[in-house]
Parts: sequence; structure tokens; C-alpha cells
Amino acid sequence: MKKTLILAGLVGITFWMSCSGGNEPKQEVKADDGKADQELLAQAQGLFQALPTSAENPENPISEEKVKLGHYLYFDTRLSKTGNNSCNSCHNLATYGVDNEPTSKGDNGGRGGRNSPTTLNAALHLAQFWDGRAKDVEEQAGGPVLNPVEMALPSKKVCVDRLKAVKEYQNMFAAAFPNDKDPVTYDNMTKAIGAFERKLITPSRFDSYLKGDLTALNTEEKEGLKSFINAGCTACHSGALLGGDKFMKFGLVNDYHPLTGSSDKDHGKMDLTK
Ligand code: HEC
Ligand code: HEC
Repeated sequence: MKKTLILAGLVGITFWMSCSGGNEPKQEVKADDGKADQELLAQAQGLFQALPTSAENPENPISEEKVKLGHYLYFDTRLSKTGNNSCNSCHNLATYGVDNEPTSKGDNGGRGGRNSPTTLNAALHLAQFWDGRAKDVEEQAGGPVLNPVEMALPSKKVCVDRLKAVKEYQNMFAAAFPNDKDPVTYDNMTKAIGAFERKLITPSRFDSYLKGDLTALNTEEKEGLKSFINAGCTACHSGALLGGDKFMKFGLVNDYHPLTGSSDKDHGKMDLTK
């Protein structure tokens, strides 16, 4: 009963409002919304870009055969000493390219000092690793296999010998690198994994929005986008990746560690460059 009365009251007020003004208030609001919508899109297009479909590297052109080989290698535990780890162990593609652990479990069970970032869209980053010490995904892919904590193979030769012992790999490397006399090499392994990672690109509704589809985001999401921009998140999270395109001091306004209570001090790039 009470509900009906309130509803009736609201209808009455609305009716009164729409009659009291000369022109149609409903349409005016809609026209305003449309304009604000367009303005937000224009602002967003100035700060972000839509993702490309792949991350091209002229030095390592993508081919179907290379990507297929890279896909196999990414999931192959033979690239680790005791066979506990593949790339996918720490960058699980079923869980958005991460392992959801604070730090990852290495091949021998020990843990490294840093969190595993996702491999999704990573190929588009300015550089690889938290401190940017590898220039691209090809260079990066050579690291974990020989890293004593991560995959712990003792040498490149041991790795290549293992790959050569697999008949299927001999065929796949030959198909992926048709101009090479001896295609099963450590370098080609990193190129194949790199080519695979260059296809791990995840366009979303936000990318459709940036390409001009105003209906790709709902009203709540557009409000969130506005807050994100107005709060200044875009100082670090912008571009096609919403980040990964610059190095920034962590703890821009205040010191990070007292505020978070974190005792784990990682100096990142400073350790490399001093
Ligand atoms: C034991 C866990 C582990 C394994 C196995 C592993 N990684 Fe990682 N990966 C990490 C961690 C931890 C980092 C960050 C390390 C750092 O920044 O110093 C990382 C960083 C990366 C990055 C950089 C991403 C970015 O945003 O900067 C890429 C790409 C990557 N790994 C790919 C691979 C590939 C390819 C393999 C297999 C050849 C592999 N990883 C094997 C843990 C692992
Ligand atoms: C001074 C630079 C800076 C600003 C400003 C900033 N961030 Fe970040 N943000 C980072 C860095 C660096 C990381 C990655 C470090 C980490 O995950 O520990 C990160 C990580 C994130 C992540 C996790 C992403 C992932 O893949 O796990 C989210 C979500 C995020 N930021 C949201 C925001 C929001 C929302 C704002 C604005 C209120 C904001 N950030 C402002 C630098 C910044």
C-alpha cells in the first residue's frame, strides 16, 4: 500500500515536471548524455589506444609454424631440470597468464624474489621484467630456462640436446626455420616462444569502445572510466596496455614501504643502473 502511494506520488511529480517546462525535458537529458558520451570517448582516445591483433617484431616475423612450435615449447616441462616447470607453470594461460602466487615456485621448489607478471600482452611492453632488463620477449625467453631457481637447466647445450632428442621437435623446428641448416638451436627456441607470445594479445570491449563503439561499455563502466581518469590513474596507466610503457618511481607521493607495511624492499631498476 505504502509502495503504491510513493509510486503514485513519483508519477505525479514527474508528470508535473514534464508539463511545467515548455520543452521536453526527457529529450534534452538524452541529447546531453550523447554529448557527454562523445566527450568521454574523445578524452579516452587521447589517453589510451586500442590493442593491435599481434605484437610484430621485424627481427622475428611471426609465422604459423613458429607460433605452433612456440606454443609446444611454452608448455614443455622438458625445458626444466627436473621436469617440474614449464613456462606455463608460472604464467598459466588458463588463469590469465599468472600463477596467483606472491612469488613463484621454482623447479627445485625454492622461490624467487618477485611476482610473476602475466605473459598476456607482455610482448607490447617497453621492455621485459619488472626492471626492464630484457629488451623484448625473445631475449626474455632465454632467461628462465637457465635461471637456477626457475627452470635450472645447466647450459644451452643441455637444452638443445634435449630438444634434438625429440623427433617431432626436429620436424617442427625445420618447418618454423626453413632457411636454417641446423634449425634446432637455443636462439631459435627463444624466437619460437617469442612469436607465440606475440600472439597472446587480448582485445576486450574497452578496445571496441576506443575504436568508437559507444555501446561497448555500459553506464557504470563509463562512470568508472571517468573516475579512473579524474583520479589521475592515467599518469601511469595509459596507452594501449594501460601501463608497461614507462618506468616510474613506485611510491610517487609518499614512501611506499611505511604505508604498506611491506618489509620486502625491491629496488628494481636501481639495482641495475645504480
Ligand atoms: C618459476 C617461475 C617461472 C617460470 C618457470 C618462468 N617464468 Fe617468466 N617470469 C617469472 C618471474 C618471477 C618474472 C619476473 C621476474 C623479474 O622481473 O625479475 C617473470 C617474467 C617474465 C616475463 C616478463 C613479463 C613482463 O611483463 O615484464 C615474460 C615475458 C616471461 N616471464 C615469460 C616466460 C617464458 C616464456 C618462460 C618459459 C621459457 C617463463 N617465463 C618461465 C617466473 C617464471
Ligand atoms: C605512480 C604510478 C601509478 C599510479 C598513479 C597508479 N598506479 Fe596502478 N600500478 C602501478 C604499478 C607500478 C603497478 C604494478 C605494481 C604491482 O602490481 O605491485 C600498478 C598496478 C595496478 C593494478 C594491478 C594490475 C595487475 O595487472 O595486477 C591495478 C588494478 C592498478 N594499478 C590500478 C590503479 C588505479 C585504479 C589507479 C588510480 C587510482 C592507479 N593504479 C594509479 C603504478 C601506478
